[in-house]
Amino acid sequence: MPLRRGTVELSPATVARRLELPDQLTRWLDSLEPVGPPPDEVPMPRGQAALEQLGRLGVVEPDLTAIAQALPTPEQQPELWWLLERAYHQVRLDIGRWDAATWLPSLPAHLGLLGRSFWVFVFLAAAEEMHAWHTRMGIGDDVSWDTLADLGRHIARFRRRNDTTGLDSQFWIGLHFRGALYALGRLQFNPYRLRMGMAGPLFWYEGAAASALGPGFQVGDGALGVHIPAGGALSPAACDESFAMAGRFFRRHFPAHDFAVATCTSWLLDDQLAEYLRPTTNIVQFQKRFQLVPGVREDDRGTFEFVFDRVPESLDDLAPRTQLERVLVRHVQAGGHWRLRTGWLRL
Ligand SMILES: CC(C)(COP(=O)(O)OP(=O)(O)OC[C@H]1O[C@@H](n2cnc3c(N)ncnc32)[C@H](O)[C@@H]1OP(=O)(O)O)[C@@H](O)C(=O)NCCC(=O)NCCS
Repeated sequence: MPLRRGTVELSPATVARRLELPDQLTRWLDSLEPVGPPPDEVPMPRGQAALEQLGRLGVVEPDLTAIAQALPTPEQQPELWWLLERAYHQVRLDIGRWDAATWLPSLPAHLGLLGRSFWVFVFLAAAEEMHAWHTRMGIGDDVSWDTLADLGRHIARFRRRNDTTGLDSQFWIGLHFRGALYALGRLQFNPYRLRMGMAGPLFWYEGAAASALGPGFQVGDGALGVHIPAGGALSPAACDESFAMAGRFFRRHFPAHDFAVATCTSWLLDDQLAEYLRPTTNIVQFQKRFQLVPGVREDDRGTFEFVFDRVPESLDDLAPRTQLERVLVRHVQAGGHWRLRTGWLRL
């Protein structure tokens, strides 16, 4: 209990002042105060246990050691710990609440590694609890840890983009850690209700067009969002298997979530890609599964970031190596733009 006492005396204002947090985070601090610390200690693994759990979460070197060595303690970093125990408690309370829209803000750069890894610490502490919830839902270890291991993939992406340890996609990983997203083979799926929350999709049918499509396409109808994590090839066979798994998985574990369609919003569904890439490429094969919803949003930045891991100041800064990279550059050089599209398929 003495560990706890040190943090209880802190107020949000004191934490903000000592950590020199910007005013934009005041709302977050105020929301954490009523959440309070968890009733028991934060189950933060340490030492070898931390390394093993981070390994299960897909974290690899050099970030693995960096994170395990940087784990904060209530004695050494009382203000950061005050934030951590409340943020952890909130993540824990959100488990199973798919619609929770809890704000998981990034901490300011001057906090260095501790700030950049803050949400990694939170998710590390919450991982066992999340895994136990999966188990209670009848979800097997493979799917559970495969899902949570997206954390490591995003830490690796942060390193590719910033050349250091950290995480800035905590909003995304927050979905996994409240049971709202599952890795099922090559693809990931999140159950949601059409046009009822943040999941969108970006474009959807309205009025007569929606009515004509019938049940399963209306605002509020259940659907599955499809996501493509970076990784190995997007082979048609792997995708077939994932879609089949998704149908079985959600009907079995979440029978109350009726759905007729899977939707996907991505640069990968930009039909302009098919004008450049061979029809046999995985990307074009993937596109062919989907019916495109009318509507486009130009998004060169997002597309370049997904493919090159950065947004170049000038196209001349890039050294394209693959067919896709060359195509991306050529299209923009010719005055074109890459677009986000939404597509759907029946499950
Ligand atoms: C989706 C993904 C797995 C497709 O890869 P793939 O299965 O190799 O795709 P294709 O077979 O259609 O590739 C066609 C060509 O584009 C290249 N290519 C595909 N994805 C690439 C990427 N992300 N970066 C660079 N080149 C890529 C391939 O190397 C190939 O070129 P090559 O013949 O010169 O080697 C890959 O793009 C990826 O990992 N993307 C990151 C995740 C992402 O963007 N998700 C969507 C978020 S909305």
